[in-house]
Amino acid sequence: APKAVLGPLVGAVDQGTSSTRFLVFNPQTAELLCHHQVEIAQEFPKEGWVEQDPKAILQSVYECIEKACEKLGQQSIDISNIKAIGVTNQRETTIVWDKFTGEPLYNAVVWLDLRTQSTVENLSKSISVSNNFVKNKTGLPISTYFSAVKLHWLIENVRKVQKAIEDGRAIFGTVDSWLIWCMTGGINGGVHCTDVSNASRTMLFNIHSLQWDEELCDFFGIPMTILPRIRSSSEIYGLVKSGVLEGVPISGCLGDQSAALVGQLCLQDGQAKSTYGTGCFLLCNTGQKCVNSEHGLLTTVAYQLGRQEPVYYALEGSVAIAGAVVSWIKNNLQIIQSSSEIEKLAEVAGTSYGCYFVPAFSGLYAPYWDPSARGIICGLTQFTNKFHIAFAALEAVCFQTREILDAMNSDCGIPLTHLQVDGGMTANRVLMQLQADILCIPVMKPFMPETTALGVAMAAGAAEGVSVWSLDPKDLSSVQMEKFEPQINVEESEGRYATWKKAVLKSMGWVLT
Ligand code: G3P
Repeated sequence: APKAVLGPLVGAVDQGTSSTRFLVFNPQTAELLCHHQVEIAQEFPKEGWVEQDPKAILQSVYECIEKACEKLGQQSIDISNIKAIGVTNQRETTIVWDKFTGEPLYNAVVWLDLRTQSTVENLSKSISVSNNFVKNKTGLPISTYFSAVKLHWLIENVRKVQKAIEDGRAIFGTVDSWLIWCMTGGINGGVHCTDVSNASRTMLFNIHSLQWDEELCDFFGIPMTILPRIRSSSEIYGLVKSGVLEGVPISGCLGDQSAALVGQLCLQDGQAKSTYGTGCFLLCNTGQKCVNSEHGLLTTVAYQLGRQEPVYYALEGSVAIAGAVVSWIKNNLQIIQSSSEIEKLAEVAGTSYGCYFVPAFSGLYAPYWDPSARGIICGLTQFTNKFHIAFAALEAVCFQTREILDAMNSDCGIPLTHLQVDGGMTANRVLMQLQADILCIPVMKPFMPETTALGVAMAAGAAEGVSVWSLDPKDLSSVQMEKFEPQINVEESEGRYATWKKAVLKSMGWVLT
């Protein structure tokens, strides 16, 4: 059948820790036209280790592209209208592959992985607290979270990686680099690059000079020859080499939290959003200046929307476990069959009855940065049941967000008057209400939940040589939001929060190496 002609469209690959999606947007209206999503497996080969198969990640991207394009066809829209695509991704996850065979040399070491805990403890001891050059250059505390220590581990422990480096065959990348290299041709001319937002999560990138840093690479024992080229977040990196989108430029690249910041239109100094995915990440745009945190937040590159455009920075509060606690309840406790069921359980309970759940499965991130913390469920009595545990798990997500909001308010000096949220968990209305109750400020949720994909589609569509999406503030219509107002009194909220803090203290220092 003849297909309806529509204006230019922009696609977005959103490769998260738990799932991969491909979505197609109309840049005129920012409307989402179609999408396809597949779950993606995580492997836990040892206690604290988290890996993924890079080839399965790539396959999931191709599958999503194909299926979403089929859906577009079913709407009588020609896929040749897709003029550009962007790639947004789970950050920090570390992949090393052979540039001559295209084969990964080890599984992807996922950002949540804890195998580098002792390396981190040793490196931290070797650094002066008063003159911490790693923090000064990268904006990050030395932690298991970032790529440098994962890459260091791979080089120290995987013979195949060592050998491939000696032979000049190995290259490194975060998930964006891996996908873009493969999609632009792989061993047949694939482009090895990353953008400033992803680079700023490796711990090898100087966020002031915007270059890989020799001193950091020496410190972590990383040869600079294996690193990708650094590009802006919005420019043409290369063309898709094969498949239904063959010939389409890849022209947007952003770490997923940066993409959500753009998609929520937090483009001004002081605007913030919090995304509830596998983890939870609150980012506040600090404009063109790097703000140092005094309260355990990260200073990170937010985006650079074009080669000639300025770099924007953000303060970030990172929580390792948010949606992942629901997955744990489903997969490990098996008291729910699908993640969405947790909402019903929590609603039935209506309270945790004094039960507190600190899901420090990967240690604690902001504001504590304690890799030795482990998860605990405490305050149990014979009365406690699965409904209370489900409620406590959701409440934990909210308390953790409260902690990073407090840190953000202290660092910024001007408290946020509301919190813009997004991500898969925000479909849970019980969670959203609980979040407003625990923050004591309104929570605002966009009606279009796919803000991460939207952000990178905007970056891709605005790139020089594509120019189908205008980022001029006068052309951007505001995001339509639903509002959740706090419904409990401040004293009750503060009381519960104080008990949470006691529980956090109990989870800390659990596994010392
Ligand atoms: O830093 C990790 C983050 O990018 C992962 O995001 O959406 O998979 O929780 P998500």
